[in-house]
Amino acid sequence: MKDIQEKLDRKDIAGFQHDLIDWYEKEQRTLPWRENQDPYRVWVSEVMLQQTRVDTVIPYFNRFMEQFPTVKDLALADEEKVMKAWEGLGYYSRVRNLQAAVKEVYESYDGIVPNTKEQFSKLKGVGPYTSGAVLSIAYNKPYPAVDGNVMRVISRILSIWDDIAKPKTRNIFEFAVDQLISREKPSEFNQGLMELGALICTPTSPACLICPVNMHCSAFEEGVQYELPVKSKKKKPTAKSMAAAVLFDDAGNLYIHKRPSTGLLANLWEFPNMETMKGRKTEKEQLIDFLKEEAGVQAELGDLEGTIQHVFTHLIWNISVFFGRVTSVSDDTKLKKVTTEEFEAYALPVSHQKIWKLALEQPSHI
Ligand code: ADE
Repeated sequence: MKDIQEKLDRKDIAGFQHDLIDWYEKEQRTLPWRENQDPYRVWVSEVMLQQTRVDTVIPYFNRFMEQFPTVKDLALADEEKVMKAWEGLGYYSRVRNLQAAVKEVYESYDGIVPNTKEQFSKLKGVGPYTSGAVLSIAYNKPYPAVDGNVMRVISRILSIWDDIAKPKTRNIFEFAVDQLISREKPSEFNQGLMELGALICTPTSPACLICPVNMHCSAFEEGVQYELPVKSKKKKPTAKSMAAAVLFDDAGNLYIHKRPSTGLLANLWEFPNMETMKGRKTEKEQLIDFLKEEAGVQAELGDLEGTIQHVFTHLIWNISVFFGRVTSVSDDTKLKKVTTEEFEAYALPVSHQKIWKLALEQPSHI
């Protein structure tokens, strides 16, 4: 940290704070979570904004706040309804942890979001970013809130060449922001950094000539703004071949499966599916065997209806989709029988929403 300290010692920190905050107060976007400083709203928005873009988050945030306007509403809400409200946002452990944490706030803190780092950081799913963001934005406490955007901005301001893809590097940036942050206006300072990262100091085309803090920026001075931040490439995602079945019985019911409570897409619902292997048996034969032996239903399947691709961070799913008719159901089936109306209430991963869309485009099967 000695080199970072030296860089900080050479900065006009008060001038940087002033120019950033002044710009933020004039230029900030109108966003629904900026309507007031309600800590619960700020918290929900910050959880949604982790890994998800502002434009995507806005309609989800508005719907979520209509359905669960207060700590009490979310604490007492049916988990399936909460998952449904998050459907499509991805990284679903975020919302399971959020609801668990909000329950704790309701039960142990009288429904008031705690305003100390000590208490707030102990809640489920609350890491250094979330606690820094909520405590600064809602309670005006001078804690750093360092996400990827803030690391990009600060790597340029201070000319920091550490690899931001490495988890440990965040500590360097927290150390730096801890000294840079305004003690008078920590909320505006942190949001100013976020806003600068979104509007000016963008990943590939930073608008340095109109940047409100360009005279404080080491990367601009050195002409290295396009080389920063240093971010090593993640390894390529591995591809998995799968087959899924959209199954109806003669009464028009659907058969769906709840994913396990841990791991990828935990607790979401899906059409029965399996990983397929290259070999003697066709995908359709493998799927029929799987349905009988693992899922507990016998089914007749049609020919391949289409394929769906879904790309995760570490994984690609290539899913072959079959439609079929259930001919018998064993007592210990792993599948749940639902009407098509009931089905609408279940939260599905985006890949399985795409499968359902394919089924709706072929209504002869329904
Ligand atoms: N990204 C993360 N937090 C944000 C916020 N509060 N406003 C805009 N973008 C953000």
